Amino acid sequence: MKIILETERLFLREFVPSDGFHFFYLNNDPEVIKYTGNQPFKNLEEANNFILNYSEYNKYGFGRWAVCLKETSEFVGWCGFKFDKDSSEIDLGFRFYKKYWGIGYATEAAKGCLQFGFLDLNFKEVVGRCYIENKASINVLEKCNFKFQKNILYDSKQAKLYTFKNDNNKKN
Ligand SMILES: CC(C)(COP(=O)(O)OP(=O)(O)OC[C@H]1O[C@@H](n2cnc3c(N)ncnc32)[C@H](O)[C@@H]1OP(=O)(O)O)[C@@H](O)C(=O)NCCC(=O)NCCS
Repeated sequence: MKIILETERLFLREFVPSDGFHFFYLNNDPEVIKYTGNQPFKNLEEANNFILNYSEYNKYGFGRWAVCLKETSEFVGWCGFKFDKDSSEIDLGFRFYKKYWGIGYATEAAKGCLQFGFLDLNFKEVVGRCYIENKASINVLEKCNFKFQKNILYDSKQAKLYTFKNDNNKKN
């Protein structure tokens, strides 16, 4: 198990094969995937295969990471980056089990990722996108000091594009 970073209450680690279970149950909750454009996995096997074939760490040196509670090591969700090789954009994303919403874990994990991305991985810019109805996600991005850029169409839906640039990091 490779731990990537720690925050006050959380640690973020690379995915392990048994996380397929969590991916299956996370995406199986209609409220969790409502604003993500994702579908539930067909079955546990499909989720397991997704994790087994997850190659971002090897390809790019970063990716999405499992977010776990320091106290119990429990998996509560995921947070981290996704590299788009066509646009060279690095996107920050997050998704948590519903029972853990509203207690600041997404903001805490996202801030930890940004610090790691800019200080350790030397990122210049990270983008965040969310559907306009996804108030929780907008709040997380704004609490992390992402700057609103423009309204966009994302998966054919009205969405907002935010960016976080290296300069922001220096000022804060
Ligand atoms: C988006 C998500 C990750 C936020 O996680 P979270 O841990 O609940 O977020 P936080 O607790 O850090 O909350 C951040 C802020 O948003 C607010 N917030 C949380 N849920 C909210 C909601 N449904 N509506 C409005 N504001 C909300 C919080 O109150 C907090 O602001 P505050 O500190 O001023 O009170 C979580 O709701 C989730 O997993 N959603 C499903 C997946 C998803 O939509 N991912 C993003 C796709 S772009």
